[in-house]
Amino acid sequence: MKKLKITEGIYMLTMNVEDILFEGMWELANGVTLNSYIVQGDKTAIIDGVIGWDGIPESLYKNLEELGVKPENIDYLIVNHMEPDHSGWISNFRKIKDDFTIICTDKAAKMVTSFYDEDKIRIVKEGDTLDLGQGKVLNFHPVPNVHWPDTMYTYEKSTKTLFSCDMFGAFGKMGEHCFDDELTTEEIDFFESEGIRYYSNVMATFSSSVKKAIEKAKTLEINTIAPGHGPVYRKNPKKIIDDYTRFTQYAEGAGKNELAILWGSMYGMTAKAVKYVETILQREGVKYTKLEMPLESESEMVATVFKSAGVIIAAPTYEYKLFPPVAAAINELGRKKITGKLAFRFGSYGWSGGAEKELSEIMERQKINWNLIESVEFEGAPKEEAFQKIETKVLELIEKMKDKVVE
Ligand code: FEO
Repeated sequence: MKKLKITEGIYMLTMNVEDILFEGMWELANGVTLNSYIVQGDKTAIIDGVIGWDGIPESLYKNLEELGVKPENIDYLIVNHMEPDHSGWISNFRKIKDDFTIICTDKAAKMVTSFYDEDKIRIVKEGDTLDLGQGKVLNFHPVPNVHWPDTMYTYEKSTKTLFSCDMFGAFGKMGEHCFDDELTTEEIDFFESEGIRYYSNVMATFSSSVKKAIEKAKTLEINTIAPGHGPVYRKNPKKIIDDYTRFTQYAEGAGKNELAILWGSMYGMTAKAVKYVETILQREGVKYTKLEMPLESESEMVATVFKSAGVIIAAPTYEYKLFPPVAAAINELGRKKITGKLAFRFGSYGWSGGAEKELSEIMERQKINWNLIESVEFEGAPKEEAFQKIETKVLELIEKMKDKVVE
């Protein structure tokens, strides 16, 4: 765990977590940080207490002591969001101190009680304030559904610091550099990429609420954005607001100038056509990423499709339906509400088709409204006629992608 001073009376504690599945399901290829913040006036508040993934908060207490904050002197626990990656230490803290108050929204209060059996709670609403003394005043601004219904921003008025919890966060562990002005060009690219992974895996389902939260952030005068995961933005907080604005567009079908090939093959017939498509993309100078299902990680699959302006679905018919690993992937993209993607599908069939029907059913059921170019299906191995049809459609996709690009 690292401890850093953000400004007078405001400190950050941050720790890297690796080798876990985030939310019990998302592989963290590059880890994640959990950030916690201390605001000191006459009274002391801790915003989103960080603990080890095992629920043991000793390192938090030790680091607080080294900052000169005795855990027993903490007056307020600000729970911006009840999800246990931000709140999991409450029960342990209650063992060493009894007279602290939890500050949270009404929705969080219900869960704080059901998860931790807590009832010393002050519920806050839009615009409520908490004066800590010595000029430190916290304002609370609910931003429901970023990521759970309980979430809120905490805003420190005198320093214009926004503690945004999950909002404006990113996956990716932090090295020595935790502030945006310290990051190297490589680290900036890394956190943008990990921001896309985080947003697509965790936040994309809630994009309409994220948009509202962006608008709310714009109503505040912000010097620093201090999220619950990832770097602190003190030089250019607008950068992460702009990134998040772009991510909401990716969730509605825009993307980077690149293409995702979401594919699977039973006995190599559809794979032959994928190889052919690669020669076209290379000839046309189109950047692409292959996602072979079911071998690819779900996290990577969702992130790559999410950020791409075009998608090629290459999958055969399997038992009268779409090849199940690819069908499962598209279902997952639907659950994440990744809508409006421009896509083209091709695939092989043996004794019967059916893949196309199931693809339509998934699109309909998930209401993701993808813009599908007419598919190409071929019996058995792809032959010259199929290759030609596929090439025509791939070129159509490349042309139409231009309207979807937002970098
Ligand atoms: Fe970082 Fe929704 O928890």
